[in-house]
Amino acid sequence: MMKLFTLKSLLLLSFVALLSSCGETTTTASSKETKKPSLKKVFEADFLMGAAINDGHINGTDTIALKLIQKEYNTITPENIMKWMYIHPQPDSFYFEMADKYVALGEKNNMHIVGHTLVWHSQIADWMQEVKDSVAMAKYLEKHINTIVGRYKGKINTWDVVNEALNEDGSYRNSIFYQVMGERYLELAFQLAAAADPEASLVYNDYNLWKPKKRAGVIRLIKKLQSKGIKIDGIGMQAHYSLVGPEIKDIENSIKAYAALGMKVMMTELDVTTLPNPWDLEGAEVSQNYEKFEGDPTMNPYPQGLPDSIQVKLAQRYEDLFSLYLRHRDDITRLTFWGVNDGQSWLNGWPIKNRTNYPLFFDRNFSAKPVYERIMALKK
Ligand code: XIL
Repeated sequence: MMKLFTLKSLLLLSFVALLSSCGETTTTASSKETKKPSLKKVFEADFLMGAAINDGHINGTDTIALKLIQKEYNTITPENIMKWMYIHPQPDSFYFEMADKYVALGEKNNMHIVGHTLVWHSQIADWMQEVKDSVAMAKYLEKHINTIVGRYKGKINTWDVVNEALNEDGSYRNSIFYQVMGERYLELAFQLAAAADPEASLVYNDYNLWKPKKRAGVIRLIKKLQSKGIKIDGIGMQAHYSLVGPEIKDIENSIKAYAALGMKVMMTELDVTTLPNPWDLEGAEVSQNYEKFEGDPTMNPYPQGLPDSIQVKLAQRYEDLFSLYLRHRDDITRLTFWGVNDGQSWLNGWPIKNRTNYPLFFDRNFSAKPVYERIMALKK
C-alpha cells in the first residue's frame, strides 16, 4: 500500500514537474517571440502597422501567414471579403460569415480593425449596377451602410467609406453612383456611416492622391463635406507605387495639404512593384488588364527570383518612403501593406496576369527580405 502510494506520488510529482517545465518552456519561447523586434513594435510611437489579409489568413488555414500577421502588425484590412459583391450579394441578403471571422480575428489580437470598403464602383454586386433610380439607390446605400456599419459598431475602428470616386484630373468619376445620384452619394455615404457608428473614423480612400490635380479634387471634396458639417476624418492614400515613381515631393505635398485641412493621413495599400511598366499606366484601376502582354517574358523578367540589384533598389525606395512618412508622423496614423507576402500580392496578377512580382517585405517563404532590416534600422 505504502509502496503504491509512493509510486503514485512519484508519478504525480513527475507529472506536475513535467507540466510546469512544459509551461516554462512555452513561456520562455513565447516571451522570446514577443521580444523579437517587429514592425509594430519598432514603429509603435509613430504609426499603426498593418496588412491587408485574405481568406486563408482569416480562416486560419494559412497558419504561417497568420503567425506573421500577429507578430508584425497591429492593424488589419480585409483585402476582398467586405466588398459589396461579397458582403451584399443580393438586395435583401448579406453574407457576414467571413466578415464576422475577420472582425473576431482583429478583436482577439487587439488590433485596429479597418473596414474596406463601403462604396466603390469595382467589385460591386451585379444587381446594384442595375439600379437606375436615385431614390432607390439612396435606399440601398442606406441599407448597405446601416446594416454593415451597424453590425460592427464599436468593433471596426476605421471605415474606408468611399473608394476611388475621383478621376485623375480631380473631377468625379462617372461611376454608377455618380450617374444616378450625382455627388450627393458621397455626402450621403459619409452621413450614413457617421450616424451608424459615431465613434468610427471615416476615410476617403483613393490611388494617385499625390497627383496635383487629383489632390485638388480631394481638397474640394473635404471642404465640401466640412462646409456641410459632414464628418470625414481621414484620407487614405493607397500608395501603389513603383521603384521610380511617384516623386517623394509630390507625395509630401499631398500629405501636407490633407493634414492642413485637419485630416489624418493613412497609407492604406502600400506596395512597390518591381516589374516593368512601360505603358502609360499609373495608379490602381483594377479593371485595367493588359492581355497583350500576358506570357511576354520581357514583362516578367524575374520568374526565378529577384536579382540583388533590384532588391537593393526596392530597399532604397521603401527607405525613401518611410523616411518621408516618419517626417510626417504627426499627421500619418497608419501604414498598411497590401498583402502579407510577395506570393500573395495582387500585383502578381495585375495589370498583367501570371507574373512573379516582389513588392512587399516578406518573400514567398515568409522570410523577411533585406528591405525589412533596412526599414527597421531607420529607428535605431
Ligand atoms: C484588389 C485585391 O487585392 C484583389 O485581390 C482583387 O482581385 C481586386 O482588388 N485598390 C483597392 C483594393 O482599393 O481594394 C484593390 O484590391 C486594389 C486597388
